[in-house]
Amino acid sequence: MITGSFPTTRLRRNRRDAWTRRMVAETALSADHLIWPVFIRDGSGDPTSVNSMPGVVRVGLDRLAAHVEDAVKLGIPAIALFPATPAELKNPEGSEALNPENLICQSARLLKREFPELGLIGDVALDPYTDHGHDGVLRDGYVANDESVAVLERQAIIQAEAGIDIIAPSDMMDGRIGGIRAALDAEGLIHTKIMSYAAKYASCFYGPFREALGSQGALKGDKKTYQMNPANSDEALREVAMDIEEGADMVMVKPGMPYLDIVRRVHDAFRVPVFAYQVSGEYAMLATAMELGLLDRERGILETLIGFRRAGASGVLTYFAVEAARLLKSG
Ligand code: PBG
Repeated sequence: MITGSFPTTRLRRNRRDAWTRRMVAETALSADHLIWPVFIRDGSGDPTSVNSMPGVVRVGLDRLAAHVEDAVKLGIPAIALFPATPAELKNPEGSEALNPENLICQSARLLKREFPELGLIGDVALDPYTDHGHDGVLRDGYVANDESVAVLERQAIIQAEAGIDIIAPSDMMDGRIGGIRAALDAEGLIHTKIMSYAAKYASCFYGPFREALGSQGALKGDKKTYQMNPANSDEALREVAMDIEEGADMVMVKPGMPYLDIVRRVHDAFRVPVFAYQVSGEYAMLATAMELGLLDRERGILETLIGFRRAGASGVLTYFAVEAARLLKSG
């Protein structure tokens, strides 16, 4: 007989077998929780790789359906489209954003035809189209709020008319959600949803994305006069409250991993669908460490994604989406 005192409660009992671990898991992750950002480029032929994001490509319209097919088969509910606009189409006003034949509109029409059940998310902001790389129009060197919103409203209508299901304003202008909602409704686009990039921080983690879209060299200055200060958390709740008030159907926190506390606060305070964006720099950081053999790839992907779910996210925009969905499917 063993004598001495024993712990009454042994939390390890529930961890002992794989089946109990599964049985008491508090959070689930499936393909339903994944949104895949896709970079589209002009021209045709083989996809081109994004140097700073190992494994990520830009794909032309001729290869877009084939590129997206796996995501659809794996049950990913929606993808987010980002166009790499040719430099010659960029100008100070970002007018290509309003061209119904631009890359994102052509992509939306094509994908709606091929995969009617796949949700399409369109980024609304002018930075892929402006030669200065800012998300709105500049007046005296400042991104002019109300004039920018007026353009974004038209951009949203054009995207929705091309088949984008969810308008995702990523520009951080004040009042843009209300403006866009009213503009969509006035056109009869009452079913078009809005996922607002509500708490979007001025972050260095967007660097590789700007390379992917060819806007990194172009950006004059920084985005600190409109994106949030990483020091702030209460302000994120004000942003979210306003966006919901103005008609956002779902909100987003961005970047992801360094801002999980914000995801948690937003979820607890509002109980609305909140999404997190594991952005390009987070992908680059993880994928590079994985390539160097410093991190286990499969476990690293799934651990970061379950972390978002645990923090309260309804889902995650992640460049790992297709790989993660495959891993989840194979158990
Ligand atoms: C554009 C936009 C950005 C991202 C999504 N939409 C970049 C930025 O604000 O400069 C970043 C996504 C990523 O880094 O993966 N407004």
